[in-house]
Amino acid sequence: VTAPAEELVRPAIRALRAYEVEHPERAVKLDANENPYPPPAGVMARIADAVRGVDLNRYPDPSALRLRRLIAGRTGWPVEGVLLGNGSDELISLLLSAFGGPDPALLIPVPTFSMYRHLALCSGWRVEEVPLTPGFELDGEALSERARETRPNLTVVAYPNNPTGNCFDRGTMERLVANVGGVVVVDEAYHDFAHQTFRARLADRGNLVILRTLSKVGLAALRIGVLLASPALVRELNKVRLPYNVSTFSQLAAEAVLEEPGFLDEQVATVLAERARLFRELGRVRGVELFPSDANFVLFRTPRPSREVFEALRAGGVLIRDLGGAAGLLHRCLRVTVGTPAENSAFLDAFRSLA
Ligand SMILES: Cc1ncc(COP(=O)(O)O)c(C=O)c1O
Repeated sequence: VTAPAEELVRPAIRALRAYEVEHPERAVKLDANENPYPPPAGVMARIADAVRGVDLNRYPDPSALRLRRLIAGRTGWPVEGVLLGNGSDELISLLLSAFGGPDPALLIPVPTFSMYRHLALCSGWRVEEVPLTPGFELDGEALSERARETRPNLTVVAYPNNPTGNCFDRGTMERLVANVGGVVVVDEAYHDFAHQTFRARLADRGNLVILRTLSKVGLAALRIGVLLASPALVRELNKVRLPYNVSTFSQLAAEAVLEEPGFLDEQVATVLAERARLFRELGRVRGVELFPSDANFVLFRTPRPSREVFEALRAGGVLIRDLGGAAGLLHRCLRVTVGTPAENSAFLDAFRSLA
């Protein structure tokens, strides 16, 4: 007798859990680092106009050229060096496909964005994790040593890092890119909030890849990730990419936004002002330890078990992220996304009533 198909799935996959996020209908949703604001009505109308005329019977533009041109203009990087993905998640998968080999290794500082490890294990990679320091800085020496021992094909660093929120020390990052060997991916998913970037190093560091996304500035529904690298590398990566990975709807909607992107900066400014308020107010709650953020979320530690805090907030209709279950650097830590002023107040009120 043959075993049922699910038992024949590779053991590395069987051991994983699918990425889970709650999708509640009515909650203050501060758990996914989304922008709380939709585009203004005028921009929504332009999106609707663009989408109305779509040829549903035709495949999308496989190279998404118009959108890539707009992104090239925004980033000041040649269009031939711009590759789009169905979210930056897909671009990470694509990098893992392209740079694999016999027993490939991914080097990551941890804690970090969970999909790096998850996708690497799905693709049969070995994952080499090096803990951050207790202050959530890169441990440059430990990373170099592990790189010498394990020769990573790929090193991925989120800048700012999720879930800690900080941009790592620039000098340590520069040394990492220069010395680690293999390809280094700097994931700048939160760049719009941090305004710090390794973009200027792309021209002279041939092993550097930068990831960005439109998800965090308010276009998460479109699933558009952006990869910036040398045109020669993008030519290779295009062989791995599925031909129609960005839908026509997403291309048209993103074009309509990026043709008149002024409102994005205003929304970012509002989020940053609210982040400062959230930080200030959380700092007044007794026993709470706060970690400075360069992104659109704040990580904090509570005196109580984080699961209790998470459950109590959820019962009151406020959803944030519990990261503090295990012992280790994130013990008793939770992450809250910066929402609208009303959402942040709802979170703060509920949280204060627990403390
Ligand atoms: C560091 C980092 N990279 C990538 C992503 C995923 O971005 P996308 O929506 O483009 O797949 C996230 C989302 O939380 C993130 O925190």
